[in-house]
Amino acid sequence: MNLSEARAKLKEYGQEHVLRYYEELDETSKRELLKQIEETDFSVTKMCSKAGKPAERGVITPLSAMELTEIEREKERFAAIGLNAIRAGKVGAVLLAGGMGTRLGSDDPKGMYNIGLTKDVFIFQRLIENLMDVVKAADAWIHLFVMTSDKNHEATTGFFREHAYFGYNEEYIHFFKQDMAPAADYNGKIYMESKGKMSTSPNGNGGWYISMVRAGIRDVVLKAGIEWLNVFAVDNVLQKIADPVFTGAVIDRNCTVGAKVVRKNARDEKVGVMCLEDGRPSIVEYYELTEEMMDAQDEKGDPAYNFGVILNYLFKESALNELMDRELPLHIVEKKIPYMDENANPVNPEAPNGYKFEQLVLDMIHEMDSCLPFEVVREKEFAPIKNKTGVDSVESARELLKRNGYEL
Ligand code: UTP
Repeated sequence: MNLSEARAKLKEYGQEHVLRYYEELDETSKRELLKQIEETDFSVTKMCSKAGKPAERGVITPLSAMELTEIEREKERFAAIGLNAIRAGKVGAVLLAGGMGTRLGSDDPKGMYNIGLTKDVFIFQRLIENLMDVVKAADAWIHLFVMTSDKNHEATTGFFREHAYFGYNEEYIHFFKQDMAPAADYNGKIYMESKGKMSTSPNGNGGWYISMVRAGIRDVVLKAGIEWLNVFAVDNVLQKIADPVFTGAVIDRNCTVGAKVVRKNARDEKVGVMCLEDGRPSIVEYYELTEEMMDAQDEKGDPAYNFGVILNYLFKESALNELMDRELPLHIVEKKIPYMDENANPVNPEAPNGYKFEQLVLDMIHEMDSCLPFEVVREKEFAPIKNKTGVDSVESARELLKRNGYEL
């Protein structure tokens, strides 16, 4: 893209300020800025006026989950189906590690955080150990795809290398970068990170599959014969990955996606809840749940919207590929965005100062034909680390790990 094309593109979206310092830049920085302008989707900034307004939803009805009692009854059969699929190389795992982890407040990728007390226990290490449990049970390596972003790719890959992949087979670990989106102030004007670079942030965890395809990773998936992808968040240090019982249940029930869920601990708990929306699987956010829905009961007299998602899904790969062209909703999220002020000084804001634009993996569920919500025991499989202290924190996760017999 040349300078006049860049000017025209910026004008269309009211972002001409991006070129304010262009003439001061050296040749390399000029080229890089033009490239960034060429590659950036500016249309997202027009969404700022929609910030804070609830998205329009279809008709929400309950979707029942496969509950613990039923799982217990069929556990061995499901495990056998799952282990067979794993041994046949049909199951891959996708670690979503492209987020910024701003709430935890560390500059390093979240997975590098050391939750150990008397020894090193890095979050990445915990996750690899969990996956190793299944590798040992199946006596077969499982391909692990790790999504990073521009902001943390080098640090993440370097960390894995330094720690010899925590004992995992290096040939089965594949890193790929997710796409970035511009970050803007409250009026939709893109922040500049420096004179020659727009502020960007990872574009949410919903772009994982497209980013995988773009990075050429789907070739690995196809070559390996992987049919199921278990997508999971970096911050749940207790979760089971490529869980044979879960995998077997989803295959047995012939669903296109499975979602691990926990029973809500309060009617108004702040978790996204599984439901049907216009007859298709979906997730309703806690702030969208009306009083009436919170009080609704199923035929057993239990709350009808009782199961929250924990960001651990098993997708049928072929179904994902079919929805490649479908646009997921865009979420506008208020965040702290480092930027360069009027006098070209860098500023690291203490409070949110604008918006990031993200697509979310939970919106992919609605694109699937059928979903199996699969109940897991919260205390055994859900220890998310979002904050340093308090709810969903390093402290609470340590407590849960200890209760499950892990030494820290
Ligand atoms: P979170 O919603 O906790 O976001 O991500 P975050 O960016 O990591 O943390 P905060 O909100 O700034 O504190 C849930 C999961 O999705 C991944 C995260 O790495 C985590 O595993 N994620 C999030 C991505 O992979 N890419 C993104 O753009 C955002």
